[in-house]
Amino acid sequence: MSDSAGEAGRQTDLPLLFQPVSIKSMTARNRIVVPPLCQYSAQDGVANDWHLVHCGSYARGGAGIIFVEASGVEERGRITHGCLGIWRDEQGEAMKPLVNIMKRHGAVPGLQIAHAGRKAATQRPWDGLGALNDEDIARGEVPWEVVGPSPIPADEGWLVPRQLAEDEIADIVTAFGQGAARAHAAGFEALEIHGAHGYLIQSFLSPLSNKRRDGYGDDLAGRMRLALEVTREVRRQWPEDKPLFFRISSVDGSEDGWQLADSIALAKELKTLDVDCIDCSSGGNAASATVNLIPRGLGFQVPYAAAVKAEAAIMSMAVGLILDGVQAEAILQAGDADLIAVGREIMYNPFWAVQAAQDLGIDPNFEMWPAQYGWWLEKRERTFKRMGHKR
Ligand SMILES: Cc1cc2nc3c(=O)[nH]c(=O)nc-3n(C[C@H](O)[C@H](O)[C@H](O)COP(=O)(O)O)c2cc1C
Repeated sequence: MSDSAGEAGRQTDLPLLFQPVSIKSMTARNRIVVPPLCQYSAQDGVANDWHLVHCGSYARGGAGIIFVEASGVEERGRITHGCLGIWRDEQGEAMKPLVNIMKRHGAVPGLQIAHAGRKAATQRPWDGLGALNDEDIARGEVPWEVVGPSPIPADEGWLVPRQLAEDEIADIVTAFGQGAARAHAAGFEALEIHGAHGYLIQSFLSPLSNKRRDGYGDDLAGRMRLALEVTREVRRQWPEDKPLFFRISSVDGSEDGWQLADSIALAKELKTLDVDCIDCSSGGNAASATVNLIPRGLGFQVPYAAAVKAEAAIMSMAVGLILDGVQAEAILQAGDADLIAVGREIMYNPFWAVQAAQDLGIDPNFEMWPAQYGWWLEKRERTFKRMGHKR
């Protein structure tokens, strides 16, 4: 039962953040999760040594679960030319070293599967984050046709998506299932469906981007249909005993958009389809406007995780501006979420997890650090003490 996750490994002398957590066959050593973080560094959707070091460093740094970035279930479902894919067997094969390094260093390997929809064929962030332009084309980064629920571009100057026909939607559902099967074959132990940030699934959910009047639109049930069909198919292809996560944009941040009550309704449906945990993000569907629509502050999305957990009676993951162990522990102690995802902070400091243990006073002697570093760092600490040096 996903609701009772973590009870099995509970050790009362540890902070909640460092209590092991079990969901189905998966056990993570703590509740710290690295959320999917696109690296825009793949070739033809295939992972390479950058991804290996990226994932390996967080495993070595003590994270509990690590999700590999949004991986396209179709070639046209990639965000950029540099995004990972899982639409070919070779791409799953190339992820095996990532899976192995994460496991070898004690983390649960997870993968996020995705379809970028109308937000596909864009530039890498450092190239401008907009639609691919003439300069990109000159470098060989040619745009491709993007698809969506309705012919409404994600932002000014972005490609107008071609409205998907019902039989094409069925093919995408199948592609998600095939991606899940490849993730299983690669050895991943957790899987997340990307249903957030204005990409294909969320663009169907939101009335801002879905103006259809057929069975995939019109009302809330119609707009939820793609999300639920994908989940059902993924669950069919992803082993019953492996945990399935679903990332939502809890709100669009617009009065006319997707609301928290809709997220709760969706979470209830997803629970009946054997989803184990809702990863509560927000925004991304009103493109550049979203940052202003949803005010940023420490833990600004935690209330969404709390509401989904309470109202839909399902595990939730909090994410967004969670900066340190003390803040993370307070979220868990308040019962607002079951898992804590840390994105940019862990990019800044891949040892965030073991440092969080020190923030919470449980590892003064660096015993949770890899021995290769911990032995020296403990000595360094003693040297500091003798010198009277305070960090
Ligand atoms: C470089 C980068 C890449 C990201 N890639 C993804 C992604 O592949 N899938 C996704 O759902 N969210 C993605 N996100 C969002 C993060 O998973 C996370 O929700 C966000 O950074 C907020 O958490 P933070 O404040 O701890 O960084 C990305 C964020 C960053 C900074």
